[in-house]
Amino acid sequence: MSTLLLLPGDGIGPEVCAQVRRVAAALTPDLTIEEAPYGGSSYDAHGTPLLDEVRDQAIASDAVLMGAVGGPQWANAPRHLRPEAGLLNLRKAMNVYANLRPAYCFEALAGASSLKPELVSGLDIMFVRELVGGVYFGQPRGIEDLADGQKRGFDTQTYTTSEIERAGRVAFELARGRKNKVHSAEKSNVMESGLLWKQVITDLHAREYPDVELEHILADNCAMQLVRAPKQFDVIVTDNLFGDILSDAAAMLTGSLGMLPSAAIGDPEKPGLYEPIHGSAPDIAGKGLANPLAAILSFEMALRWSLKQPEAADALLAAVKKALDDGARTRDLGGNLGTAEMGDAVISNL
Ligand code: IPM
Ligand code: MG
Repeated sequence: MSTLLLLPGDGIGPEVCAQVRRVAAALTPDLTIEEAPYGGSSYDAHGTPLLDEVRDQAIASDAVLMGAVGGPQWANAPRHLRPEAGLLNLRKAMNVYANLRPAYCFEALAGASSLKPELVSGLDIMFVRELVGGVYFGQPRGIEDLADGQKRGFDTQTYTTSEIERAGRVAFELARGRKNKVHSAEKSNVMESGLLWKQVITDLHAREYPDVELEHILADNCAMQLVRAPKQFDVIVTDNLFGDILSDAAAMLTGSLGMLPSAAIGDPEKPGLYEPIHGSAPDIAGKGLANPLAAILSFEMALRWSLKQPEAADALLAAVKKALDDGARTRDLGGNLGTAEMGDAVISNL
């Protein structure tokens, strides 16, 4: 029997996680669900966004699903204790180095995109964002005082061969089960780490994946192509920072940030970390208005990638599609359903 650890976190996190619980009760009654404090709410209650025992509980579970993290009330918390620091520490502790961020357009929602429906209808991109390296974690970093009274802020972008290779492998493997095409995005024209990224991906491709189509693309051009002709992409592999930015842009093409899940995976024998890619949405938190589909679809990814229940995942995906086809819409999608009603719409189709 498997265990899913829920980390509801902040803002709308608890509301959307409550719908995951309901879906799991209907779909996978044998799954054990645990819950633990996390993020800003954990900081308020325990003085830290991630307790050591919660980190250990995460590593010992089969999958971890978090709701959302952060909010304006913690903007002045000490940097290493901010909710976001808890998230980065958890990613690092779980060593989930490949973040899969799908950007797919549900047919029923093609009209909700900021791009013309014909540009996004059928869109299905999978980002592989390197998640535990790069400028997010590179040392040295800091803000120092200069002799002339100014300050100097600095970060370090760094990648090793093996860090690039393991992210690249995930991308090539995924592409083989899709349209067999990988774009690798970096800034090899200005950055040394980008040049190494390009060389390592080139070598890995030639050595292990010559059957997959590979194109190198500069990250700025990738941003432009994503809003010009997004359907040219299948799998995009990129570093931590570019992946953060490019995946937000791609997500918006699909109609709503409230729709998209993500999976962070590493060693297949270890638990994955699943999160909706939306934020904590403090403006609507506690009002029962948030779209729970990104969290529910994150559970779908957990069933597929960590909990080894692909049939349950297929059934859940079909139920979400059916609910949307039948016109179920929360407010972010132009409708008037509340969070629990959208949960009902999915559960009634299971
Ligand atoms: C994301 C978020 C996080 C990131 C923040 C909350 C630290 O933007 O998951 O994309 O930058 O990775
Ligand atoms: Mg982000």
